[in-house]
Formats: sequence, C-alpha cells, structure tokens
Amino acid sequence: MGLRHITIAGGKPLYGQIKIQGSKNAVLPVLTSCILGEGICQIDNCPRISDVEVTLRLLEAVGCRVVRRENTVAVDASQVTCCGIPEEASSIRSSILFLGALVGRCRAARLPFPGGCAIGARPVDLHIASLKKLGVRFEEDGKLAADGRELCGAKVTLPFPSVGATENIILASVLAPGRTLIRNAAREPEIDELCGFLNLRGAKTTRREDGSICIEGVRKLRAVSYSMRPDRIVAGTYLLAAAAAGGRVRLQGASMPGLESLSAVLRKMGVHIKLEHGSCELVSNGRIQAVPYVETAPYPGFPTDLQSPLLAALAGAGGESLIREKIFENRFRVVPELRKMGAEIVTERDCVKVRGNGHMHGAEVTATDLRSGAALVVAGLAAPGITRVSGLAYIERGYEDICRDLRQLGADISLSGGDRKENENSRKAR
Ligand code: UD1
Repeated sequence: MGLRHITIAGGKPLYGQIKIQGSKNAVLPVLTSCILGEGICQIDNCPRISDVEVTLRLLEAVGCRVVRRENTVAVDASQVTCCGIPEEASSIRSSILFLGALVGRCRAARLPFPGGCAIGARPVDLHIASLKKLGVRFEEDGKLAADGRELCGAKVTLPFPSVGATENIILASVLAPGRTLIRNAAREPEIDELCGFLNLRGAKTTRREDGSICIEGVRKLRAVSYSMRPDRIVAGTYLLAAAAAGGRVRLQGASMPGLESLSAVLRKMGVHIKLEHGSCELVSNGRIQAVPYVETAPYPGFPTDLQSPLLAALAGAGGESLIREKIFENRFRVVPELRKMGAEIVTERDCVKVRGNGHMHGAEVTATDLRSGAALVVAGLAAPGITRVSGLAYIERGYEDICRDLRQLGADISLSGGDRKENENSRKAR
C-alpha cells in the first residue's frame, strides 16, 4: 500500500466557499490555560489536529478530565493532581506553555524541553529568563524544574517579542500577586485571543496603546464556554493556493484579523482580494506576478508560517521574487522539494530568490515540517500534472483535513496509501 500520501491532479482553478477551522496557535494556549482555574471550560470550534490531541493528553496527565465531542472539548481542571508532564510533551513546541500554567496553578512545574517542527534552534531562554523575573526558580537536569513558591508580579522587557514567551508570562502572572507588565510583548492576534479568553474567566489583562500587556493578578478564575476564532494561517494557505491555481474562493468565518499583511502581498501579485466583516473573498486568473521583496516579521509583519506557502505560490509567478526569513533560521527546507517540481530557487543565508519559469509540474515530494507540507500542497494545486505529497504527519499537526477543505473548493485532491492501522490512528487523532 505504501506510505500515506496526498495525491493532487493540479493546474485547475479553485471555486467555492469554505469555513475555516479554529486557530491552532490560539487554541493551544487557551487549552493549556484551562489548568488555571477550577470547573469545566467548554471550548468550541477546537480544531481536530494532532498538536491539540497531544495537548489534551498532557492536560489529562496533570489530572484534568477531558471530554471531546467532534469540535467541542470540555476541560475540567477541578483537580490538578500533578505538576509534571510526561515525555510526550517534547513532541510539540507549545508544551512549554505548561510551564507558566502549572506554575500559576500549583506554584511548581516539571517538564521536558519542548520539540516541534525542526525549523530552527527554537530555544526557551526567553521563557526562563522572563519567569525568573516573576520570582520563579529553575533547576535543569535534562528537564525543566520550576519552583514558583515566590511567584509575584513584575516588569518584564522581552528582547524579542516571542509569541510563546509572552504567553508563558501571561499564564504565570494571571494568578500571581501584584501587577505584571510585559514590554515588547508579541502582538499576534492569538495573544489577544488568549487574553480575551482569560478576561472572560475573570482575569485582568490589558493591552496598552504602546503594545505592552498589563496583568493584575486575581485570586481565581471561573469556568466559561468559548468558541475559537478561525485560523489565519490555514486561511492564508488556501488564499495562496487559490491565487496560484486561479479561481474565486470565499472563506467564511468571523472577521480574520491577521490577514492584512498577506492581503497586501496578494494585491502586489495582481490578485483581487476583499476582506469583509465575516468573510474574505479572492479572485485570481492564476497568472500571478512576482513580488520584488517580502520579509517575515513579528505581527503585524508578514507571518513566518506563511513564508513557505508564499514561496510555493511565487514559484509559478511571472518574474523574480525575493523573500527574507527573519524569524526562523531553518525554514527553507521546502526548497529542494519545490525544485523537484521544476521551481527555480536560489537560497543565500536568510534569503531565497525564486524565478517563476512557467515550468512547474507535478512530482513526488515530501513534507519536512508543517508549513512546508502546506506549501507543497499549494504548489501541487497550481502545477499541471500529478503531485504526491508524503510526510502527512506534519500537515496533520495544523490542518484538520486539508483534502476535505480543498475538495470543497473543487480541487482534485485525495488521501491514499498507508496500512489500516496507520489510517485508523490518524483518524482517531482527529
Ligand atoms: C509561535 C507559533 C509559530 C510561529 C511563531 C512565530 C505557536 C504554537 N507557534 O511559535 O507557529 O511560527 O510563533 O510567529 O503559537 N526564541 C528564542 N528564545 C526563546 C523563544 C524564542 O530565541 O526563548 C526565538 C525562536 O528561536 C525564533 C523566534 O524567537 O527564532 C520566534 O519564536 P517565538 O515567537 O517564541 O515562536 P513560538 O512561540 O515558538
């Protein structure tokens, strides 16, 4: 039967509308933050992706009761019986958020160093240094052991607006005595979604005009029901696919903050895009133009998570584009795979130069990380011929069912291969 793979018959425009799944990068901290208070929080529009499934198992490992029904998850954190999480945590980067959440709730945490996609060194020095400012003491013996008995609000200035470090400080300080101020905090919409969720629970977090976040510690949080906003990176992936393949697509959902920088780039590519309250529509004739220069940057800059899908789209554009990756140092691993599809790409340090040559074609390619997998699907939809993408476990970390979504837009795309057990596991994970 062979390895599981996605088969795409590309070169056909996309038409139709779809609802975008809930946001991965928002739901992971939101679920982890459930630890902070007693009672049952119900999270709706929770995407069925493997990173969420790992997070739910980690919540169970610390004593939470978790019930999942379709896209709704109920987390009962009335009993948190353990302040350590198992080795499985090292398979996802966001497990580092259990540090702040457990320190907040139990005043102690023990966890393995996190992993995640191999897109760079991804250290956790900023997380540790920031929590030390809040009075947390650390021991490292192959694991991270935190003593939060002297946890207390403080001023923290981040040297870089790390998304994860900002979230960890918020999680640790919500129940800490006193006031915490995070200067140079990350401004990604997912941070504000976490703060909005926590405020609904009774926390006191405020985003100030200068972008800093102020947290007044409270004594306890209440249980609430909450529905996750749509995933701007999944939305962006499908917009880039439709830009490159051509067609007319409408993405439904609530308004999507975070698509502004992509919209600006799409317009430069000659694509018509309309962001309305509640939806987003794109029209493309499939003959996109090159973009002279795009660089990734913390929000509101162009998101690093859309860099590979953008590169894949530009491989079929008219002319030469230059992309600089400023967030992760190892995010060009998709390049050799795109070359197999006929792409003309030169890499130099943190830059890639891509020349659209009109010779893109289907090929057998392998995802090397989550967003490179999405990029190969984008390239496969635009390029004539058959593309087979393997390495699906990466794609399933962030996309609930990329084949289902794109089929709904009329794409000729299907999942095949794999033995029964493998498919069963993948289905269960979702
Ligand atoms: C989050 C997102 C990820 C996105 C990234 C940047 C989640 C679950 N993941 O990852 O999809 O690509 O933001 O928008 O939300 N760094 C350090 N030391 C640290 C922490 C980070 O040097 O302690 C560096 C990283 O190596 C990287 C940069 O800072 O070069 C950005 O990392 P960060 O913003 O922390 O990203 P994540 O939270 O890991």
